[in-house]
Amino acid sequence: MMKIKLLLFITIIYKAHGENKCAAREIPNESVVCVCNSTYCDDFVREPPKRNAYVAYTSSKSGLRFVKTEGHWGKQGKEKCSTSLTLDPTIKYQRVEGFGGAVTDAASINWKSMPEELQKHLIRSYFSKYGLEYNMMRVPIGGTDFSTHPYAYNELPENDTLLTNYTLTIEDRKYKIPMIKAAMQEATSPIHLVATTWSPPLWMKTVDTYGGYSQLKKKYYQTYADYHLKFLQHYNKYGIPIWGMTTTNEPINGMFSFAKFNSMGWTVKNMGHWIVDNLGPTIRNSTFKDLKIITGDDQRITVPYWFNIMLRETPNALDYIDGIGVHYYTDQFVPAVIFETVTKTYPNKFIIGTEACEGSFPWQKEKVILGSWKRAQRYIDDIIQDLSYNLIGWIDWNLCLDMRGGPNWANNFVDSPIIVNAKSQEFYKQPMFYAMGHFSKFIPRGSVRIEVEKSFTIFSHLNYVAFLTPRDTIVVVVHNKGKKQTISVKCGSMEARVDLEEEAVTTLELPYENNEFDFGK
Ligand SMILES: *[C@@H]1O[C@H](CO)[C@@H](O)[C@H](O)[C@H]1NC(C)=O
Ligand SMILES: *[C@@H]1O[C@H](CO)[C@@H](O)[C@H](O)[C@H]1NC(C)=O
Ligand SMILES: *[C@@H]1O[C@H](CO)[C@@H](O)[C@H](O)[C@H]1NC(C)=O
Ligand SMILES: *[C@@H]1O[C@H](CO)[C@@H](O)[C@H](O)[C@H]1NC(C)=O
Ligand SMILES: *[C@@H]1O[C@H](CO)[C@@H](O)[C@H](O)[C@H]1NC(C)=O
Repeated sequence: MMKIKLLLFITIIYKAHGENKCAAREIPNESVVCVCNSTYCDDFVREPPKRNAYVAYTSSKSGLRFVKTEGHWGKQGKEKCSTSLTLDPTIKYQRVEGFGGAVTDAASINWKSMPEELQKHLIRSYFSKYGLEYNMMRVPIGGTDFSTHPYAYNELPENDTLLTNYTLTIEDRKYKIPMIKAAMQEATSPIHLVATTWSPPLWMKTVDTYGGYSQLKKKYYQTYADYHLKFLQHYNKYGIPIWGMTTTNEPINGMFSFAKFNSMGWTVKNMGHWIVDNLGPTIRNSTFKDLKIITGDDQRITVPYWFNIMLRETPNALDYIDGIGVHYYTDQFVPAVIFETVTKTYPNKFIIGTEACEGSFPWQKEKVILGSWKRAQRYIDDIIQDLSYNLIGWIDWNLCLDMRGGPNWANNFVDSPIIVNAKSQEFYKQPMFYAMGHFSKFIPRGSVRIEVEKSFTIFSHLNYVAFLTPRDTIVVVVHNKGKKQTISVKCGSMEARVDLEEEAVTTLELPYENNEFDFGK
């Protein structure tokens, strides 16, 4: 019986891999969602470009999803396009670490709520070579608002400096760990996980609540560092290595009572001291000494605060900090040039996007908007902007949520690139899902951003970014927010003419022979 079932499964999958188009459901006044059920889910494979040819993938408001086209890559023609992008692979910028999403309690509970086949479809869609090839994840240390209830590890006994009762919860064992393991199995390169605490147990805090205002009691500074080390040890025991750790989620929230969910506030001075006196030595003196310590983990506007001002207070923190994490939620109001406070003054420290989602603002009454192309556009523009200011990666928030945008114990519902409809046993891939894939699948770890110059008309409505990849290709992501147009993409003496659909994102992949003679001729 088992054998027959298994055989059937293999046959279906074998036929399906890489050939399934989006099962589009049109949403009135929006774009489409792609529907996955137990027997069907869209997928696609990357096709390496041939010599003298480019491969382009397009997703659009009109409903195209990763539609593949090929074109000629050769000597420049005479006919001119009104817009051209000129690539210069000799001018190089940051090296890419990766792209991904967060395995919150909410994401993993939604995932587990689906039939096994659908669980597989979701993991394959995000991580496998038939999907977006995500290579990063963020995992909360204990609970967040995207949990069914507020909690932390070692809540009892109180005042337990030695953390004698630190055990993983059912959320870890039944939901998050299985989801991470499933992702690790499907991923095409090692998954780099970033771990973050939202709030420690209440007895460590100056105020006895998960949300609102509170700080860490001074007498528990070392305990809070050990609390992080213990997480590394526990996940390691399950065969899950952690790549990076942030120094508390959105530490501004807990200073100003900005959030009614799990938070803990820090001043820059205290944070700096905790890193220098406790967290830094604890990690560097452990078997996890290569862990990336990522400070900030707060909104773009706070970058100089959690970095430059903190380092003025406690310069020794530089010995421990590898980089700074930034969140998405003020990006519409704060110019990205603020990143230069880090990239220009501390060029050996990195910046990475650690959280983003749509629908989080109080004035956004609809938390989940199925099929919203506008939300995909905001993701695309933000990723292009961040990458253009040398960010090394971009990690989305919840990998999937339910139809309300939860569960969330604090009623802080938001949108996600995958929305699970448990009742009808299907999930919906939002336009934001494809937005992520236009970067994650084609810009593998180790890619290096290169210079692009635009000669343009101001009406071309284009955003773009380009990379040299370890696959010996050049990848250009172009976001067209205007009408259909043809652009020319040039490099050395070579040229491609590329048709861009109206309101569409196109990822272009070109062969690159790393050979100056070839480039110059
Ligand atoms: C779609 O847009 C039209 C025109 O703006 C509006 O009248 C209609 O109510 C909208 N339909 C939905 C389902 O939102
Ligand atoms: C699953 O989706 C496919 C493709 O859209 C469809 O043909 C099939 O009927 C669906 N199956 C179920 C059980 O809904
Ligand atoms: C340890 O933690 C568990 C789970 O929170 C709790 O039920 C138990 O009472 C704790 N043990 C002690 C000695 O406090
Ligand atoms: C823990 O410490 C707090 C503050 O010192 C105290 O009020 C509380 O009673 C202590 N709890 C236990 C179980 O000792
Ligand atoms: C590292 O651990 C050793 C042994 O526990 C200890 O002697 C040493 O002081 C520690 N170093 C730092 C920097 O904490």
